[in-house]
Amino acid sequence: MYISKLQLRNFRNYEYLELPLENEIYIFMGENAQGKTNLLEAAALLSTGKSHRTARDRDMIRINEPFARVKAESVQQDGEHTVDVVLSRSEKKRVLLNGLPISRIGDMIGQIKSVMFSPEDLDIIKAGPSQRRRFMDLDRCQMKKSYFYALNTYNHVLEQRNHLLKLMPAKGGEDTLFIWDEKLSEAAQPIMAERRRFVSKLSPLCERFHYELSGGRESLKAIYEPSVMGEEEELKEKLLSTLRQNAERDIKNKATGFGPHKDDIAFKLGDRDLRWFGSQGQQRTAALALKLAQLELIKEEMGEYPVLLLDDVLSELDAARQERLLGRLEGIQALITAAELSESLKKLPARIIRVKEGRVYF
Ligand SMILES: Nc1ncnc2c1ncn2[C@@H]1O[C@H](COP(=O)(O)OP(=O)(O)O)[C@@H](O)[C@H]1O
Ligand SMILES: [Mg+2]
Repeated sequence: MYISKLQLRNFRNYEYLELPLENEIYIFMGENAQGKTNLLEAAALLSTGKSHRTARDRDMIRINEPFARVKAESVQQDGEHTVDVVLSRSEKKRVLLNGLPISRIGDMIGQIKSVMFSPEDLDIIKAGPSQRRRFMDLDRCQMKKSYFYALNTYNHVLEQRNHLLKLMPAKGGEDTLFIWDEKLSEAAQPIMAERRRFVSKLSPLCERFHYELSGGRESLKAIYEPSVMGEEEELKEKLLSTLRQNAERDIKNKATGFGPHKDDIAFKLGDRDLRWFGSQGQQRTAALALKLAQLELIKEEMGEYPVLLLDDVLSELDAARQERLLGRLEGIQALITAAELSESLKKLPARIIRVKEGRVYF
């Protein structure tokens, strides 16, 4: 799939932009702070419903303006679609799909599918587990609406349970806690099941791309690490019994110590866990393999590639890895930002768009 038109109004430093695009590779070039990342952020917003770099929607509204509007037309296997997001300083975010307003944000997620790859993603292996959970959630929410809603439910139940823990023991209430244990493990079940399926499908693809990137003898494996161990059908019961066994600890900590909000993915190279024992080079190669695996898995699952957003990531990779990554872009709409054209970028059949002070020149 690809974005055929991107339209911004009062978004970040863009007063107005209308950018026609094709299913090709675009390189957005420009100096620092001109608006390159802002463009990719707009595309990510249309795809995931939120920014990849701020949790506050109003940050994206142009200074001194009351609202921002971001719209994209996309071409997909099943036809053309538009997604339209209006951010306001005083009202809730509004979303229109094909011109019609939707009441649940979840209904827009994944209408335009994208994979963002930025320098922080290169550190995903050595970063804390929350980054890896975010990776799973961003991918799964786009690919499965039911996952998005399950995650919302889980987070809501978790909040309630933590709220109760904060009031305890003054209020007593172990019985009430037991009820929330049940609800939490119930809500956790579909998330753990989907994450496990996801990581087990990713792992062989990671292995393949890692081999292509490194040619090494050791194979890379990605392994889902739920906060409680067990077979798929036992996970819910395992979580429930673990929550009960650790009730006292949770009450003391005033926080829930087990559940999907504590999950992780392990990356093993041979028998070495790269999270703790990888060199920076090994960790980055694994991160790159993971991103390529993600692209490929989305293609397998939906029959077409998502839009690839590469934000300043090439300058962080050596020439050989740049070539490997760029060598995989055939048939993918890629929006790439760069401060300058590296040798490998020069070889790409790409269109170059210059970005300066919130305007584009092509
Ligand atoms: N809400 C906003 N309103 C106006 N300008 C903004 C807003 N948010 C960020 N900017 C401006 O956007 C520019 C940064 O854009 P960005 O896309 O991150 O740059 P780069 O080209 O380096 O990727 C800066 O000049 C910043 O002042
Ligand atoms: Mg930038």
